[in-house]
Amino acid sequence: MILIGTQEGKRTDYMRRAAAAENIPLELLPWDALRNPSSPEELSKNTLLGNQAMERLQGEAVKIDPPPSRTYELQWMKRQLKAYGDALKGLDRAECTFLNTPEAISRLLDKRYAKHLLMEKDIPVTEMFPEEIGNLEQLLDLMERRRCYSVFLKPRYFSGAAGVAAFRLHPKQGKFCLYSSCRLKDNELINTKKLMRTENPREVRPLLDRLLTLDCVVERWHPKADFHGKSYDLRVVFQFGHVAFTVARQSAGPITNLHLNNQALPVNCLGLAPSILDEIEQICAQACSAFPGLSMAGVDILLERGTLRPRIIEMNGQGDLIYQDIYGENQIYREQARRLPAR
Ligand SMILES: Nc1ncnc2c1ncn2[C@@H]1O[C@H](COP(=O)(O)OP(=O)(O)OP(=O)(O)O)[C@@H](O)[C@H]1O
Ligand SMILES: [Mg+2]
Repeated sequence: MILIGTQEGKRTDYMRRAAAAENIPLELLPWDALRNPSSPEELSKNTLLGNQAMERLQGEAVKIDPPPSRTYELQWMKRQLKAYGDALKGLDRAECTFLNTPEAISRLLDKRYAKHLLMEKDIPVTEMFPEEIGNLEQLLDLMERRRCYSVFLKPRYFSGAAGVAAFRLHPKQGKFCLYSSCRLKDNELINTKKLMRTENPREVRPLLDRLLTLDCVVERWHPKADFHGKSYDLRVVFQFGHVAFTVARQSAGPITNLHLNNQALPVNCLGLAPSILDEIEQICAQACSAFPGLSMAGVDILLERGTLRPRIIEMNGQGDLIYQDIYGENQIYREQARRLPAR
């Protein structure tokens, strides 16, 4: 099995352990050895896309992990992501068995495309509005027209909650409330690891105007179920046709990503009815089969407050790094090591 990934880091480390435990020889093909990391534009021209690398991948079982990335300035992330998209296109020519094909990974990196496809197939999702919004005035207009006063904004291609913002407008008083982990510094959007909340229009207006230049999707902000006074959602790793692992992410604010100081909970703490867990598994199966070439996805799911009805927030084609699993039985990666080369 070949892992395209980084020299160091938990993904590589625990995939190595998983392969060793399953007696599968694993070779690392590091992104860094294949490109000049100081220049993201070079990613698309790297030797990996040359014939030699294509020959190396020929006939192998291949997993693609994300390349190393800088996640501080959002503009830089945008350029990096473009280059990553180009590299994935190049890799698509390789004749091998991918865990997730480069094309499937690319399709999921595009939140607009992925959500649109799921909506078309009537899979329950958090509702995305079709309008493309370029500034705050257009956003306020959309919210008025749709009578939807609480929304999520998410840069179309980003991950790791970068640039994600939850925004509420009080329709009568015209007051704003914004939660986000990004902020403006010297007129540049930067990513932080702390969720901030502000009602100050002098902060909200320039930040949202800037964020909306990044090509954002706009969604209805769906209230999440809560547990012991804090809301939560779920990250479900679905692979090879079944749920491999589920972790609940509990937070005081509306954005639950675990690197923002939120808390992971074992899903069985929540006492969810078996019928809800079955429904989640079915939705994940339907959603994954909508994307050809996808054997694994990290599916973010919220349960609506009150009804506990599941809705998919998004799917991640490389969303299988779960600390609660790698530090435990490492069963997600072990199953990949066992099943991928056997295909
Ligand atoms: N429409 C929504 N309604 C309610 N909560 C939402 C909505 N969209 C996103 N969220 C919250 O914001 C978080 C981040 O959103 P999302 O997963 O789409 O972004 P991301 O940057 O791709 O994250 P990652 O790559 O880490 O999964 C979600 O986990 C969820 O807690
Ligand atoms: Mg997510």
